[in-house]
Amino acid sequence: METEQTLVLIKPDGVQRGLIGEIVARYERKGLKLVGMKLLKLPLTTAEALYAVHRGKSFYDVLIQFMTSTPIVALAVEGQNAIELVRTLNGETDPRKSQPGSIRGDFSLNVTHNLVHASDSPENARRELGILFAPEELYEYHRADEGILHPTKE
Ligand code: RTP
Ligand code: MG
Repeated sequence: METEQTLVLIKPDGVQRGLIGEIVARYERKGLKLVGMKLLKLPLTTAEALYAVHRGKSFYDVLIQFMTSTPIVALAVEGQNAIELVRTLNGETDPRKSQPGSIRGDFSLNVTHNLVHASDSPENARRELGILFAPEELYEYHRADEGILHPTKE
């Protein structure tokens, strides 16, 4: 199994609704490790770099406007299969399809105000983490429960 790092953003609606702790707790409880974390207001150029793939789409302008409106929380999350796991914990983009138990399924009914962003591939995770975090802002350490979460095969 592959240890991966991925970028999560708690969007302005998550911060404004007081859901930072609730959202972070879900990744922590799953056993994923937070290796970077910061509160910031996204500069326009950063948001444009992050969402370059969506430039020209119908929702692009609304998305950029929203993401740069008020502070967000950026998280670097590490663990085995972290990229897929985090997207499962986040839930589907379409609010009609996001399952109860997921972050979007439990707390969101709007496709723009959908609380979280997460990288969708190893290449995008590397690219997006590089946009939000300097190398020295990502930490290497052990969680005390790693022996239980990842038992080594005998
Ligand atoms: P994210 O990038 O935020 O993790 O979300 P995602 O992969 O599930 O969705 P993506 O297709 O990458 O879209 C990025 C964000 O754009 C907004 N969006 N609006 N109005 C619309 O049809 C529409 N589609 C996407 C959402 O905020 C989505 O998270
Ligand atoms: Mg996406």
